[in-house]
Amino acid sequence: MLVISELTKTFGANTAVARANLEVDKPQMIGIIGRSGAGKSTLLRMLNRLTDASSGQILFQGRDVTALRGAARRGWQAECAMIFQQFNLVPRMDVVSNVLHGTLNRRSTLSSIFNLYPDADITRAIEILDRLGIAQHAPKRAEALSGGQQQRVAIARALMQDPQIILADEPIASLDPMNAQVVMQSLRRIHEEDGRMVIANLHTLDTARRYCDRVVGMRDGKIVFDGTPEQLTTGMAREIYGADSSFSEAATSTEIETLDKVPA
Ligand SMILES: Nc1ncnc2c1ncn2[C@@H]1O[C@H](COP(=O)(O)OP(=O)(O)OP(=O)(O)O)[C@@H](O)[C@H]1O
Ligand SMILES: [Mg+2]
Repeated sequence: MLVISELTKTFGANTAVARANLEVDKPQMIGIIGRSGAGKSTLLRMLNRLTDASSGQILFQGRDVTALRGAARRGWQAECAMIFQQFNLVPRMDVVSNVLHGTLNRRSTLSSIFNLYPDADITRAIEILDRLGIAQHAPKRAEALSGGQQQRVAIARALMQDPQIILADEPIASLDPMNAQVVMQSLRRIHEEDGRMVIANLHTLDTARRYCDRVVGMRDGKIVFDGTPEQLTTGMAREIYGADSSFSEAATSTEIETLDKVPA
């Protein structure tokens, strides 16, 4: 279904992603872990074509995604909707309009300017919000919602595009544990009920273990682990994070960054 081969991204002398290979045969829920700077975001951004790869290839259902240009590239970006740590909503705009924003790339400029949304789209947006348990907030400004609710609005906006893949770059890194759980459960449900592939960069290992079928570990731009949560031993996890015995599964990738500096 999705084949990533020898995918590489360099920024000057720095290699952010180094010859990454990944094969996904069916729509799985995949968690990508690794310490800060390991290349997780760069990998997702190349998948979505927000960033061009320096070399290597991405194939989705036999199509060469890396070669898409113009409208074909934008079409691909709708097929693999992305959600971010900071939600990226329009804060002063109401929730339902934020969700409808997900349809903008298939509407004419004129109807977009005047905020003219077809009734069918509005109904669909409300249905999606309802499914995520936040339909009652539809008329409110996005900024009036909690972080967890805002992230669900971002998921609703992504679903509005009916994507085959949902890419999530640290979707719960700014949320408290309760909201983090609700957002991860929403992603899991979307994966299970709709059969959509979910690829999420996660900043803690225990979240990846709990919600994902498959965990990919990155270190220094390379994929150094690819397997099930069961196959991911504590020893392997330490190797991915380059951490010593002080490593804990609940530690975040940013916390691990500072472990080195703590004297043994
Ligand atoms: N636009 C850019 N220009 C230059 N270097 C970049 C750019 N984006 C990323 N990098 C570098 O590429 C490497 C990988 O960065 P990336 O953001 O992919 O890591 P990450 O695993 O997502 O880290 P984090 O957990 O902190 O989000 C880092 O060394 C980073 O400094
Ligand atoms: Mg990142």
